Amino acid sequence: MTNIKELLVSMDYGPAPEVNDHVKTWLSHHGKGVGHYIGGAFVPSSGGGSFEVHNPANDTVLVRVAEGTAADIDNAVAAARKAYGGWSKLTGHQRARHLYALARLVQKRERFLAVLESMDNGKPIRESRDIDVPLVARHFYHHAGWAELAETEFPDHAPLGVCGQIIPWNFPLLMLAWKIAPALAAGNTVVLKPAEFTPLTALAFAEICQEAGLPPGVVNIVTGDGATGAALVAHPDVDKIAFTGSTEVGRLIRQSTAGTGKKLTLELGGKSPFVVFEDADLDAAVEGVVDAIWFNQGQVCCAGSRLLVQEGVAERFYAKLRARMETLRVGDPLDKSTDIGAIVAPVQLQRIRELVAKGQAEGATLWQPKTQMPGAGCFFPPSLFTEVEPASTIAEVEIFGPVAVSMTFRTPGEAVELANNTRYGLAASIWSENLNRALEVAAKVKAGVVWINCTNLFDAASGFGGYRESGFGREGGREGMSEYLVHKAEKSGVAGKDSPALVLSASPATDAHAGEAVAIDRTAKMYIGGKQARPDGGNSYAVHGPAGSVGLAGLGNRKDVRNAVEAAAKASGWGAATAHNRAQVLYYVAENLASRASEFETRLRTMTGCTADAARDEVALAVQRTFWYAAWADKFDGAVHATRTRNVTLAMYEPWGVMGIACPDEAPLLGFVSLVMPAIAMGNRVIAVPSSRHPLAATDLYTVFDTSDVPDGVVNIVTGERDVLVKTLAEHDEVAAVWYFGSQVGSAMVEKAAAGNIKSTWVNYGRALAWTDAGAQGRGFLRRATQVKNIWVPYGE
Ligand code: NAI
Repeated sequence: MTNIKELLVSMDYGPAPEVNDHVKTWLSHHGKGVGHYIGGAFVPSSGGGSFEVHNPANDTVLVRVAEGTAADIDNAVAAARKAYGGWSKLTGHQRARHLYALARLVQKRERFLAVLESMDNGKPIRESRDIDVPLVARHFYHHAGWAELAETEFPDHAPLGVCGQIIPWNFPLLMLAWKIAPALAAGNTVVLKPAEFTPLTALAFAEICQEAGLPPGVVNIVTGDGATGAALVAHPDVDKIAFTGSTEVGRLIRQSTAGTGKKLTLELGGKSPFVVFEDADLDAAVEGVVDAIWFNQGQVCCAGSRLLVQEGVAERFYAKLRARMETLRVGDPLDKSTDIGAIVAPVQLQRIRELVAKGQAEGATLWQPKTQMPGAGCFFPPSLFTEVEPASTIAEVEIFGPVAVSMTFRTPGEAVELANNTRYGLAASIWSENLNRALEVAAKVKAGVVWINCTNLFDAASGFGGYRESGFGREGGREGMSEYLVHKAEKSGVAGKDSPALVLSASPATDAHAGEAVAIDRTAKMYIGGKQARPDGGNSYAVHGPAGSVGLAGLGNRKDVRNAVEAAAKASGWGAATAHNRAQVLYYVAENLASRASEFETRLRTMTGCTADAARDEVALAVQRTFWYAAWADKFDGAVHATRTRNVTLAMYEPWGVMGIACPDEAPLLGFVSLVMPAIAMGNRVIAVPSSRHPLAATDLYTVFDTSDVPDGVVNIVTGERDVLVKTLAEHDEVAAVWYFGSQVGSAMVEKAAAGNIKSTWVNYGRALAWTDAGAQGRGFLRRATQVKNIWVPYGE
């Protein structure tokens, strides 16, 4: 006699297929192929080309879609530009009505979109039906709200213009929603390129736009591969590129947009840690792993792909995990009881196989359950690697498949070290019943999203995006909206004439003119690690005012920059200091600067030839601005987002860490203060490169810092050729963000050099900023000095 429980456990599953007749009808209706959606109509490729879209679960051809050419991109951008005038002039309320209509129609077509998504991508219907598509509707509703509120919540801001958006294949419709909803809410128009493997739900969405009566040209969709994407990135009339995909392509895009003035957000790869402490609820953590790495076949940028398990519970945890893996069902994505569907395409399957083989060759232990695998199609079983070396390929590289790699740790400190031992920083998941410990680790992990006792939760109200090589910018919430807006002062900034950077040759001349190097003399010292420093090369250069030489400044080189970065890296206590302490130090700086006002005024007058009034104003404003940022140091708060119930989602502003700041020639003191103060107020350590032409007001500041309790290494000053020095900063892996206020050529150089470790940059493209204006001070500076970490904390039994 078997009881009911035993029966349920031993019973075989019967197939539970989702009906897909409506999708088949839609596909046959498009039997001749689907065109691009440009200017409100479906049009064939200008080159006449098309390509097949496959169902990866059974390798059948679903339909053909148009192959996007540069001319198609041109047409789509022109349509978006044409529509921009009208769309951006609508009131927020009018735009909200459109977004609301889109949300309603997505909801009405939920079942159709879910089935189409599963057939195109291979993801289980349970996921597309219960997660992807509901989140798409949620995103449009949420952003209908932002459209409504944009004018009051973002005063003095304007939309950017035409946005080029490139999305991947892992969440085709959801990524479209993440891109299109905020762009439209803010008043932009878009050209979106879906991934070549999965363009179908984007085209179904285009039909929704038509049906909803969205003005033609507001949304344009061009299908194609990487070449089509590259044409969109290169198009001169695009104002912003938003990209989600691989870090490699993200880096290429950073390089090719460098210096163009296009705004950029990148959401790239990850190798996110999933940390299990010995006091975790192990059964809950096992379910967490299922959601972390077997959700969407592991093809998730924030997948918890690196399991870090505390030694004492590791064997017990692995045993539970293996038992759970035995129950995972791999198979037909349209079957409602399938847990793991198909890998998106043969090329991805091949990539997973190669990486798994590499892991075995590297000596890690592979375990796979005795899961029944489908006979055909792109499938890969759930897999677990244990005994993985932290430096091995599979521990470092994003596998982007249903493969977890696991390592053990002994102490919480070791867990943090292992968690951060990656070039990425997208997400982390932390499992412990001790909330104190979990929050402590959450604060130390370098990741844009941290889930405590949960994983892979998303909501339109919470920002999503990475640290480090996982990209920059956020999607969702207030942060996400601000990526599609620009402050009016910045948009209308005066295009500066590109004065050539001062070139200081290193000849040991004694009778010096500005621009020539001289043997070292009574030179204004550089300031590194809290000490006056002579330049490594031993050279200095003469600084000239209108009435001749006013002194000598050190001619710093790469070595000096590297020393300064090292000193700044060591000063990490500054970021951990309380905001109150930082405020105190800034007040002290302001006070000491004020007490030496006349000395700084004289310096400015002799160095720049400005009038006495202008010098007085500049110093007074520098003092006032320092007070202002001191005041903000303990007030620039984060938020608690209203995400789904039973979750507290904390949005915390964190400093970048080590920042490079190249200061402007105009207002040599005020420019320096306007940039360095907000950066340190937020807890960053800074390597500042003062104006090459007028460096002496900045070098005079070191005595102010010295007497104001600024800890060693928090502000470092390296003088010399600004563009040469900042290039080293932009290339340095230890530097997380670079601000540059100089020439157009220098701006392009900084953006390009920063592509190496995908650092965040803020450059002025040679535009002169009025440093004495109110617009040169504000919360925007604080926002740029920080990145947001969202920590999800569920509650309840
Ligand atoms: P990919 O980065 O090449 O593709 C993403 C999107 O970028 C697609 O729409 C593609 O057509 C487009 N694209 C490709 N080259 C481009 C270029 N030069 N300029 C502009 N757009 C371009 O990703 P792929 O090759 O499909 O996947 C490779 C690996 O990337 C995966 O195994 C995974 O590790 C990672 N990946 C990460 C994603 C994420 O969400 N972070 C998403 C997709 C892939």
